[in-house]
Amino acid sequence: MNQSGVRIAGVGHHVPKGILTNADLERMLDTSDEWITTRTGMKERHVATVDVPTSDIALVAARNAIASAGIEAKDLDCVIVATVTPDYQFPATACIVGAKLGIPGVPAFDISIACSGFIYGLTVASSLVRTGVFKRVLLIGAEELSRIINYDDRSTAILFGDGAGAVVIESSEHDSFLSSELGADGSNPKNLYVEVGGTAAGPISAEDIATKRNKVVMNGREVFRFAVTKMIEATNIALERANVAPRDVTWLIPHQANRRIIDAAAKHLDMPPERVVINIDRYGNTSAASIPIALSETVAAGKLKDGDVILFVGFGGGLSWGAVAWRWNGDVKAAFSTNGKAG
Ligand code: COA
Repeated sequence: MNQSGVRIAGVGHHVPKGILTNADLERMLDTSDEWITTRTGMKERHVATVDVPTSDIALVAARNAIASAGIEAKDLDCVIVATVTPDYQFPATACIVGAKLGIPGVPAFDISIACSGFIYGLTVASSLVRTGVFKRVLLIGAEELSRIINYDDRSTAILFGDGAGAVVIESSEHDSFLSSELGADGSNPKNLYVEVGGTAAGPISAEDIATKRNKVVMNGREVFRFAVTKMIEATNIALERANVAPRDVTWLIPHQANRRIIDAAAKHLDMPPERVVINIDRYGNTSAASIPIALSETVAAGKLKDGDVILFVGFGGGLSWGAVAWRWNGDVKAAFSTNGKAG
């Protein structure tokens, strides 16, 4: 097999037009803007209309990333979608996105590892390119979490939003991939899960739907503790593997789940706030989409310079976690942030 380096050649994102603000949530639930802001850092999230499937918002993000890379869809060798809110239970949403991009026949598959999806996807896509299996892979994190949220449950309803972010990963002389650390522990899957709809709980009944057992349930305190611990652990391991000191990390791009979790990880890394990418106030937690959206906005703002070291770190249902150390390589001209058609 040919060995090559890998780089991100293009990046883009898309969020649907609809916005759910803290004021809206105040009208729906026993909560307050003050509580949500101080406990999570969130102010608003985007929500897709019910006629727009995940593949449609993924498609807009994908087209933006493809344009940013200066290529055409036909130049792609593989499509990967990280999502826990697929169009259908099967087939994979990536197959549908591939067809909508006009490249049926190109290999396509989904990664289902919740909010760790982009970190896992970046590791898998980079490995496929570095080992010469593919030259160019489109990786999309796309979620419509609004479809699986119980808007009667104030502990989860405030947290999640919809959106999509995408990157084109291609072979390169210089290698951006410095290291990866991934982990998962399914001993307590019910800390963050949807109970019915899979094979464990039997067919969904009308009562399940009435009692919202087909929506997300979360043990918030447990997930919070786990998140801080694993973000720090994964960060340490990835940096050590990459032989990079924390002070040499130029940008921390973390999963956007809770401002307090991000602050704890940043403090551990001794990262000054201006080098930590945070957009949680505008999007909430968009699961697998949160890191590529944050990356896309950072590129669009012209902040990334050739040679910058980025640490991507995330965690989520599984429970699962991961970190990737990445050296920014090249001349990515623009990422398109759009409120275009889908949503
Ligand atoms: N508005 C007002 N009060 C709320 C509330 C809301 N939206 N949600 C919960 N509360 C209440 C609780 O009922 C509890 O009341 P009590 O003390 O009377 O029982 C109180 O606030 C404190 O609850 P607690 O769960 O301890 O709050 P917290 O500081 O841990 O914050 C989370 C709750 C969910 C914001 C926080 O635990 C968290 O972010 N966890 C991680 C979640 C996560 O990242 N999930 C995604 C992983 S990818």
